[in-house]
Amino acid sequence: MFPKPPVVPRAELHCHMEGAAPPSLVIKLAERYGVALDGLLDANGNYSWHDFTTFLKTYDVASSLFRSQDDFVLLAETYFNMLAAEGAIYGEVFISPDHAVRSGMSYKSYMDAIGEGIARAHAASGIEGRMIATGVRHFGAKSVELAAKEAVMNPHPLMTGFGLAGDEREGHPANFQRAFRLAEEAGLGLTAHAGEFGGPESVKAVLDFLKVKRLGHGVRAVEDDAVVDRIVDKGITLEVCPGSNVALGLYENLRFHPVNILRQKGARITISSDDPPFFRTTLGHEYAEASRVFGWTREVQRELTANAIRAAFCDEATKNALMTRLDAAMQNTR
Ligand code: ADE
Ligand code: ZN
Repeated sequence: MFPKPPVVPRAELHCHMEGAAPPSLVIKLAERYGVALDGLLDANGNYSWHDFTTFLKTYDVASSLFRSQDDFVLLAETYFNMLAAEGAIYGEVFISPDHAVRSGMSYKSYMDAIGEGIARAHAASGIEGRMIATGVRHFGAKSVELAAKEAVMNPHPLMTGFGLAGDEREGHPANFQRAFRLAEEAGLGLTAHAGEFGGPESVKAVLDFLKVKRLGHGVRAVEDDAVVDRIVDKGITLEVCPGSNVALGLYENLRFHPVNILRQKGARITISSDDPPFFRTTLGHEYAEASRVFGWTREVQRELTANAIRAAFCDEATKNALMTRLDAAMQNTR
């Protein structure tokens, strides 16, 4: 048997910090705080949920067990070290002022803790990490505007973007314009979840009103050619999370997922894990499974990582260094 070539370096643009909490860490924190887990995990130790609504509930309960700076340092350090162990050289995580408040922390101490976890993982493995502050759509426009204000008033060198997560079926994008303009004026990169539980009209509205450079998911744009053309023409990058979409029931299985069609139509595709342990996946698994199902060669996988680096919300010098690392790794493993 010949040894397998090393994996193509990977990069992740779409992962929710609290959604990356491994059940083992949640169990540890529940013991520390004397909290009963009450059906949060199933008999196999996996998160227990059955649709988007119960997923969001489970996500919030698990998040509520992270209560101190030490907890968030550990969470971020654990996640970024796991990414690096799977060959990732870059990752962006969504953080949320609303979850900080619910944990009884200030947004700044929460963000500083996650920044510290990223710095520790960087020191250990060389992985680059950044944070994207997010508003939660189903909490309403005021709450999203507050999230943008917190992000703008508390700058951090690793906090470089602003986004919108939560239930896309609630609240029209026009309601969030002020928040996005505030973030844009502060120089933050912009992204929003759309085209996950909403159809192409939801993608169109986000592009019309929020002027984002990237879309979280965006995959249901495939249902309207004009929306796909717009994504291609404007060079919008899609943060595609195939395993998440299948787990949440958007598509019956990976073969029916439109990621490869969107790629063939010229959309800029990147691959991410969203909330990895909730969907029993990892970034490495997402790259490997999609490559297996769609026959993506190492060159295609390189293209996915290069797309992520180009669309990343970090500075140009870091992007250039990441691109050099990617190309060097490809040269060395040909
Ligand atoms: N928050 C965490 N995961 C999410 C998802 N898949 N869609 C919307 N909001 C989320
Ligand atoms: Zn998401």
